[in-house]
Amino acid sequence: MPKITVYPDNDSLIRGAADFIVELAVQAIVARGRFTLALSGGNTPRPLYARLATPAYRDRIDWAKVHIFFGDERCVPPDDPRSNYRMVREALLDQVPLSAGKVHRLRGEDPPEQAAADYARVLQKTFGGDAAAGGPPPEGFDLILLGMGDNGHTASLFPGLAVVTETRRWVMAQYVEVAGMWRVTLTPVVLNAARQVAFLVSGGGKAEVLHRVLEGPYQPVALPSQIIKPSHGELRWLLDATAAAKLRRES
Ligand code: 6PG
Repeated sequence: MPKITVYPDNDSLIRGAADFIVELAVQAIVARGRFTLALSGGNTPRPLYARLATPAYRDRIDWAKVHIFFGDERCVPPDDPRSNYRMVREALLDQVPLSAGKVHRLRGEDPPEQAAADYARVLQKTFGGDAAAGGPPPEGFDLILLGMGDNGHTASLFPGLAVVTETRRWVMAQYVEVAGMWRVTLTPVVLNAARQVAFLVSGGGKAEVLHRVLEGPYQPVALPSQIIKPSHGELRWLLDATAAAKLRRES
C-alpha cells in the first residue's frame, strides 16, 4: 500500500516534501555514503527545488555526496525554456555546492535513441548491472521524485505508449503525440527498482485523475502512474488538499 500524505495547502506540501528529501539524504549518506536522487520536471516541483536551495534546507545536506539524475527529459537543448534540466538548474543546481560531475542530465539535444542509450550507460556506471542484459539494476535510486499529469502520465510514461509496460530496457525514447515532441524517460524497470518513489501532486485539476489512479481499476496503459509500484521500496504520494479532494481514503 502506498503511503498517502495530504497537506492543507501547496506551501505546506512543498515544506513537507523538502523535509522528506533532507531526511532521506541524511539517512542515505550515513548508511551508504551517497544520496542518489532522480528529479521530475513540470511546474509542480519548481518551488520545491527553490525551497531546497534556501539556507534552511541547503545547509542540512552534504551536497558533495549527492548525485542528481532526471526521471525524464524533453528532447530540446538544455537552455530551451521547455528543458527540465534548465528548470532544475535555475531553481536548484546553480544555488547549491554540487560538482558538475555529480549532475547527470539527459541530453535532450542529442538524437533521442542515442540519448536514451547513453543515459542507460550512465545509470550502469552508478548502479552497476548490465543495462543491455535487461532486468532491473542491482541497486536502485535512493529517491525518485515524480509528478503526474492530468491524463495520469508520469515521467514520460504517457497513456498508450509501449514504454509503460517495458520490462527490459532502463531508458527509452518515445515520440509523445500529445506533447508534440520526443521525450526520453526512465522506464518502469528502473523506476520500480528505487528504494523510495515519491509523487508530488498539487491542485484541483489533478483531483479526478488522482482518484482514478489511486482508487479506480488497475489499467496502467491508460493511467501510467499506476505502473509505479517499487518492488522492494516504498511508494509515497505527497498531495495538497485540493488534489486529494476526490479521494475516499487518506492515510
Ligand atoms: C515532464 C515531467 C512530467 C511531469 C508531469 C506533471 O517532463 O513534464 O517530468 O511527468 O511531472 O507532466 O507536470 P506538472 O507538475 O507541470 O503538472
